[in-house]
Amino acid sequence: MAKRAYNFNAGPAALPLEVLQKAQEELVEYQGIGMSIMEISHRSPHYEKVNQETQDLLKELFAIPEGYQVLFLQGGASTQFAMIPMNFLKPGKVGSYVMTGAWAEKALKEAQLFGETSVAASSEASKFMKIPDLSEIKIDPNAAYLHLTSNETIEGAQFQSYPDTGDVPLIADMSSDILCRPVDVSKFAMIYAGAQKNLGPSGVTVVIVKEDFLKDLPKNLPTMLRYEIQAKNNSLYNTPPVYSVYMVNLVLKWIKEQGGLAVIEQRNIEKTNLIYDTIDQSGGFYRGPVDKGSRSTMNITFRLQTEELENQFIKESEKQGFVGLKGHRSVGGLRASTYNAVPFEACKALADFMVDFQQRNS
Ligand SMILES: Cc1ncc(COP(=O)(O)O)c(C=O)c1O
Repeated sequence: MAKRAYNFNAGPAALPLEVLQKAQEELVEYQGIGMSIMEISHRSPHYEKVNQETQDLLKELFAIPEGYQVLFLQGGASTQFAMIPMNFLKPGKVGSYVMTGAWAEKALKEAQLFGETSVAASSEASKFMKIPDLSEIKIDPNAAYLHLTSNETIEGAQFQSYPDTGDVPLIADMSSDILCRPVDVSKFAMIYAGAQKNLGPSGVTVVIVKEDFLKDLPKNLPTMLRYEIQAKNNSLYNTPPVYSVYMVNLVLKWIKEQGGLAVIEQRNIEKTNLIYDTIDQSGGFYRGPVDKGSRSTMNITFRLQTEELENQFIKESEKQGFVGLKGHRSVGGLRASTYNAVPFEACKALADFMVDFQQRNS
């Protein structure tokens, strides 16, 4: 039995043990074909089945309505930051962004390379420690789209509900919280996510896009960066990241086996309550900087009174088998990423360690 760390990495991040074991079992010979899935053509019936089944599973689990297509692209969520304005930001229109943290800033910056942009709402004044109230979001009727980041991985702030944008297409970067809970997908023209947190390994970016949104897009773009081409070719315009998609397929099957997103959401709440409660009951020893109404169930950020104590916490936690608790270098502090695949036991162990650390250091 492999010795598994308590993995709180922010991404790439923990994968379900059962998924890794299944992949191991099928690595050398995939389903009796005498080869690995990595050794066959992406035009083979075996991969075509993986491609289709993975789309179907995502549609089923995420309750994606009719009229949407699922794409498997490359270049990470960061490439989506550019593809979105390239494809959708037409002259005379504005790309509107909700500013919630470091990832929203990157998305906006990329759009500024291509056209006019605006800020629909921002929580910068509170150092992004709060998601703006939905009522603060100004929907510009001239917007080509409104873009939001559903979960800010670095700051640890997450939308709890989404705005109604009327005729303005809503686009969400769900890289760090896709499939952590059920979502009304029909509110969105497009949802995208780099796979390496809740969906699988890095190498594939999942795009869920409304077919109507793909009409009348510019044709003078690099072929690979045109959603229309990727959609028409069912994500097989060129060689796709076969192994990453295969892994996403296994992760989706695992989610289904767990009982689907309602079960996953409940488990995520229970897991994170353990840690947030420990912070809140520590009498100020630990401090959660994010506004309680915006706390993330995927990335729990917290601080100790001094940086020295934070460094000591990290060092001691590593000795006890915890991995990835250092906060992002841009904000410091501590961060526990508690994605779907992080087991309850790991969160319980962390909460226990936090209590013990406090007792020894206060
Ligand atoms: C919310 C969010 N958006 C975008 C990205 C960038 O993703 P990628 O590395 O796939 O480009 C990340 C990565 O951590 C993220 O957390």
